[in-house]
This record gives sequence, C-alpha cells and structure tokens, in this order.
Amino acid sequence: MNCLSPSILAADISRLGEEIRMIDQAGAQYIHIDIMDGHFVPTISFGGPLMNSIRGLTDRIFDVHLMVEEPAHLVEEIVACGADIITVHAEGCVHLDRTIDKIKAQGVLASVALNPATDLSCLEYILPKLDMVLLMTVNPGYGGQTYIPYSTNKIRDLRRIIEERQLRIDIEVDGGINLSNVQEVLDAGANIIVAGSAVFQGDITANVEEFLKIMR
Ligand code: DX5
Ligand code: ZN
Repeated sequence: MNCLSPSILAADISRLGEEIRMIDQAGAQYIHIDIMDGHFVPTISFGGPLMNSIRGLTDRIFDVHLMVEEPAHLVEEIVACGADIITVHAEGCVHLDRTIDKIKAQGVLASVALNPATDLSCLEYILPKLDMVLLMTVNPGYGGQTYIPYSTNKIRDLRRIIEERQLRIDIEVDGGINLSNVQEVLDAGANIIVAGSAVFQGDITANVEEFLKIMR
C-alpha cells in the first residue's frame, strides 16, 4: 500500500496542531517526525516532548526519523511519546543490529535509513529483520532541498533485492519529493512517501489531496 508521510519539519510550528489536523483530515496516513541532534546532522529540530504534545491530536501513524548519532538511548523515550515506526541511520549506529533489536523489543516497527551515498550492501544481513528501509533522496539535515537524481536507480535496486528475497519491506523515500517527481519514485518501487515543503507550502489540504490522487 502507498502511504503519504508529511514531514512536520516543514510545518509552521506556531500552528502545528492545526496543520496536523489538516493533513489528518485530508487523508495522509503517516506523520513524519524528523528528530535531529546537531551532531549527526548540523542542526537541531525537536524531540519527545513535542511528540507527546501532538500525540493526542491524531491517530495517524507516527513515523519517527532519528537523525541522531547513536540513537539507542532514545528508543524507550520515543516509544513512550507515541512512535509507531522508528528509523535509525546505518551511518549513526556502530551496533546497528543491537539497536534494531532494541526497537523491536519495544513492540514498534523498525527501519534503517541510508544517506544518499551509502551503498545498499550494508543492508544485506539485516534486511530480513526490517519493516521498512528509508532511502534519503537528499542529504539529511534540512527540508526544501532538491531530489538527487541517482536515487531513482537506488530505489529500483532495493525493490529488486526485496522481491528477489521474497521479503515484505516498505521503501520510504525522503527528501525533495514533490508532485512532479512522486510518480518517478513510485514507479521505481517506493511506497511510503515523505514530503515536507511540498505539503506544507501553500494549500496544505489541496497538496495532500493531490499527492494521494497520484499515489492511489
Ligand atoms: C531531511 C528530513 C526530511 C525533510 C524533507 O533531513 O529527513 O524529512 O523534512 O523535507 P522536503 O520534503 O522539503 O525535502
Ligand atoms: Zn525525514
């Protein structure tokens, strides 16, 4: 199933509750929450307390993307704050397998993110343990960047590997996705679509509806 995961990094934080209700009512299935630590990526966004304060507003799936160096210590807090899916970066975890086990032990879905230049081969052994793989289609750290064109081949390669191994794993794409290139990433095999600026700039309800029309 294809799902839209609007990234609230691009929302107007002063009106966050209202904007979350808008994406929920327009039919977005997930809410993408970008947690940044100022080390793994240059900047800091938000964390558990913000998740807590919005958890009561919507039943949509909280899709939490930890752009954090060694995020294992955060897993319990992030689950307590209402995460449904937790993604950690392969590049940020020395003990990736242990971190994934820790996420799964909390009873939520586990996912690994790869930066654009990171080879798919680092997933070879861990892939069967994962519920989702997040392919970064820009360098993580900021919203509003341009989609990196070579990502399309990477999505296609990952979808082929998942099919050959007869696994059921979602492929999420994150960064620079808009109404003009979403079809390209869907065709390549992505099925969870993160969109920040393309959802929250302009008419939020209309943007979500346009995405969902293409993704049906
Ligand atoms: C970037 C974040 C993304 C970001 C996407 O580091 O992981 O989720 O919010 O924003 P857009 O869709 O504007 O590229
Ligand atoms: Zn993200």
